[in-house]
Amino acid sequence: MPSRAAAVVRGSVPWSESRHRRSRIGTEIRTFIEPADLRRALVADVREGLTPRPRTLPPKYFYDARGSRLFEEITRLPEYYLTRAERSILLRAASSLVAGVHPASLVELGSGSSGKTEIVLDAGEREGSLRAYAPIDVSRDAIERAVVRLAGRYPELDIVGIVGDFHEDLELPFAGAARLVLLLGSTIGNFGPDEARAFAGRVRGHLSVSDAFLVGFDLVKDRRELLAAYDDTRGVTAAFNRNVLRVLNDRLGSDFDPDAFRHRADWNEEESRIEMHLVSDRRQTVSLPSLDLELEFEPGESIRTELSHKYTRESATALLEDGSFEVERWETDEEDRFGLALARPR
Ligand code: SAH
Ligand code: TRP
Repeated sequence: MPSRAAAVVRGSVPWSESRHRRSRIGTEIRTFIEPADLRRALVADVREGLTPRPRTLPPKYFYDARGSRLFEEITRLPEYYLTRAERSILLRAASSLVAGVHPASLVELGSGSSGKTEIVLDAGEREGSLRAYAPIDVSRDAIERAVVRLAGRYPELDIVGIVGDFHEDLELPFAGAARLVLLLGSTIGNFGPDEARAFAGRVRGHLSVSDAFLVGFDLVKDRRELLAAYDDTRGVTAAFNRNVLRVLNDRLGSDFDPDAFRHRADWNEEESRIEMHLVSDRRQTVSLPSLDLELEFEPGESIRTELSHKYTRESATALLEDGSFEVERWETDEEDRFGLALARPR
């Protein structure tokens, strides 16, 4: 067993482990998603989401290997300011944030490519306390690429990639010394309002007083700017949105025609969120033989595939306080587009 690398899901053990390198410090990937369970969950989620109207799908199914790569392309789009804004905050503030926490480890929820994380890892290495990093993501492809890249860049770091669903009761690794838990990229915005509060509370439950939680919030702004970020002119966001239908076709043998669905992003002012839809451009029937299901779509009927809530400093603080955190630091970029909250267990 690697010394510091311990990740457990309550009541179970990782379904598989692959060790890339064994020495005093290790690099490994632990998988908490068993193909049979994944399939059962997918079948249940698709039945629950697509049978009733209005139809919805959970966002985690966007992220197969192709979806993860398309998302990374989104982060480089001129319209998608979020990644650049959050990166600029980290470039300015990572050192002082890390200096306040002295983390022995970073644990990142929904790590994706771990691109911006390198700024925090660099700050941790300079500060001298950092020993370990655990990226957690539902995308095996994203975890594998991140672990291989980071192992090369940070040979002194213990790296444990975790392929798992952060909505499951993942016990966070590296307990016992100060941990900095990251939730970047406005991923908190993709949770429903109650879900976000419950999630913060669950993370809080895993942390001790020396740990901290760094959360990225996209901020309320001009609606045209928001809408452009979720409907770029090159159609990358549209391709990403439609990818979820290809994932269903791959995994369930359904016959969605992704080209028969149009990408649409709406701004919901009351709920302060962008809502993403796939809109059927014709009357069509889709069959999902493995669910014994036939779905009728009217022209203009949609599947809601994603929510992206936009916060203010006040609403972000209230959310974290409801989860039993207190906000110790609040950092924004120069244009007040994005906010990073450093929260401590209360
Ligand atoms: N943190 C990165 C990626 C944000 S996109 C950034 O800031 O750019 C959201 C990420 O969360 C994706 O990598 C996706 O694969 C992952 N994700 C989505 N749902 C998840 C779930 N239920 N459990 C774990 N990871 C999830
Ligand atoms: N966390 C990202 C966000 O809310 C996810 C995202 C970006 C997304 N663009 C998307 C999800 C397009 C679905 C479709 O900004």
